[in-house]
Amino acid sequence: MKVSILGIPMDLGAGRRGVDMGASALRNAQLSRTLRDLGHDVTDLGDVPVPIPETLDKHASGGLVFLEPILDACHAAADRVAALPRDVFPLTLGGDHSVSMGTVAGNARRLGAGAGTGRLGVIWVDAHTDYNTPDSSPSGNIHGMPVAHLTGLGDPRLAGLGDGWTLRPEDITMIGIRSVDTRERDALREAGIRAYTMKDVDQLGITRIVDRTLEQLDGVDGLHVSFDADALDPGVCPGVGTPVPGGLTYREGHLLMELLSDSHRVTSMDIVEVNPILDTRNQTAEVMVGMAASLLGQRIL
Ligand code: ARG
Ligand code: MN
Ligand code: MN
Ligand code: MN
Repeated sequence: MKVSILGIPMDLGAGRRGVDMGASALRNAQLSRTLRDLGHDVTDLGDVPVPIPETLDKHASGGLVFLEPILDACHAAADRVAALPRDVFPLTLGGDHSVSMGTVAGNARRLGAGAGTGRLGVIWVDAHTDYNTPDSSPSGNIHGMPVAHLTGLGDPRLAGLGDGWTLRPEDITMIGIRSVDTRERDALREAGIRAYTMKDVDQLGITRIVDRTLEQLDGVDGLHVSFDADALDPGVCPGVGTPVPGGLTYREGHLLMELLSDSHRVTSMDIVEVNPILDTRNQTAEVMVGMAASLLGQRIL
């Protein structure tokens, strides 16, 4: 398969510095070589330009911190991804999770969604539901808001990244959830978004969750996996800005990727929220490269 890597080295949506270095850490952990060894034709497209916070005014407008530069970076990422042919697998590297407003919108456009000819499903692997709006967010950090904006809620500028296309709530499945803010929970319920919490992972196991997810996302033309490193347990991925105890084990993460890979239905992936400053010897980036490898066909035997 043709795989195109694109970095969005942005930490403007997060509450603490460092995830801007995530793309670099993933490259350093032999991302390209690992995927080439699996037989893929890998191209690294480099990075979307993103300003560093030190050059910007940290003013929050309407409950949103760094709105304009985040919007610009997301538009740029969406345009780069949308320009890729259908037979390419875009592997986008954050950055904080707000980059996914751009990558998901770009993949939807790439697959013809929005023109009414295609539907994109999203599997959101995360400790958090990232379903806050500027109104409900306790932090004002945009990385806690991408899913709400993708579905058309919140600030109209961010919600407009899909150029008229919005993600249908029924085309989303979240896995690994264990931290949800109060008003975020109410909105999530109201929208009817499917979320498999860690309790569900414990009770059902990854296998049944993947079976159900693939069945529920049956009608879509493409499937995007948005993998926040904090979905995995902090013992496995310590290098994240918003760690939450009780996450996916190393094997649960791999099994999830292996089973999705077996389905041959996933068409794009993000890896986000890797924070090398908080990491132990690049362990988190190395684990996440392993997750990408499993999604892209690596097997034990
Ligand atoms: N719910 C919290 C907030 O909105 C944390 C969000 C964390 N999101 C993330 N992508 N790590 O501020
Ligand atoms: Mn645009
Ligand atoms: Mn997230
Ligand atoms: Mn998260």
